Amino acid sequence: MAKLMYIESSPRKNRSKSILVARAFLKAYEQANPDDEVEMLDLWKTVLPEFDGFTIDAKYQVLHDQELSAEQAAAWESVVDVCNAFKGADKYLLSVPMWNFGIPYKLKHFFDVIIQPGQTFNFSPDTGYTGLATGKPIVVTYARGGAYGSDETKGMDFQKTYTDLLLGFIGFTDVESIVVEPTLGAPDDVAAIEQAAIAKAQELAKSF
Ligand SMILES: Cc1cc2nc3c(=O)[nH]c(=O)nc-3n(C[C@H](O)[C@H](O)[C@H](O)COP(=O)(O)O)c2cc1C
Repeated sequence: MAKLMYIESSPRKNRSKSILVARAFLKAYEQANPDDEVEMLDLWKTVLPEFDGFTIDAKYQVLHDQELSAEQAAAWESVVDVCNAFKGADKYLLSVPMWNFGIPYKLKHFFDVIIQPGQTFNFSPDTGYTGLATGKPIVVTYARGGAYGSDETKGMDFQKTYTDLLLGFIGFTDVESIVVEPTLGAPDDVAAIEQAAIAKAQELAKSF
């Protein structure tokens, strides 16, 4: 029995297109894998540890193999708890709206908490950075108001490019993306684009 973690980062719920497509994926996945466990992480309902100066000091103590004070250890532990919950899944589904050409701050906060030395990556001067979230597949659904496929606009997409970069940094190599764009177009066009994204999600879910 595998465990799929679904991480949701749009607050728009029933009006969200990234969630619409993720839900279609989940429904098809659950039909194909009725015994699997699906864990949902709604980043708008999750209280994450602050990644403040104190916690960063703890991070650098870890990074440099130095001893932590009791307070630093406690701060670091709250970060490690989130990392462990993340690493406990076998497969991932992530839904991401574009906000100001990038990702919502709740998702940035989540990435800042889970991207940690010894947890999701390792560093050594000899080998450089090595991602630790290896051997696990992830599907990402993206929604954006505009369209970012043309030569003029693709340089403005810091949503998918950044997410791909971070996922690659922590070791994901099996990454499937479904992009819904432009969600702020004419209603008929948007409906057709949504349907195409849903069909792709359903297809991917069958063999995920
Ligand atoms: C705070 C905010 C910022 C946004 N910034 C952009 C943007 O930079 N580029 C864009 O194309 N759309 C932008 N949009 C539109 C959203 O990307 C669009 O509504 C998309 O469908 C959001 O995903 P969702 O439907 O899953 O919530 C923004 C929307 C919000 C709420």
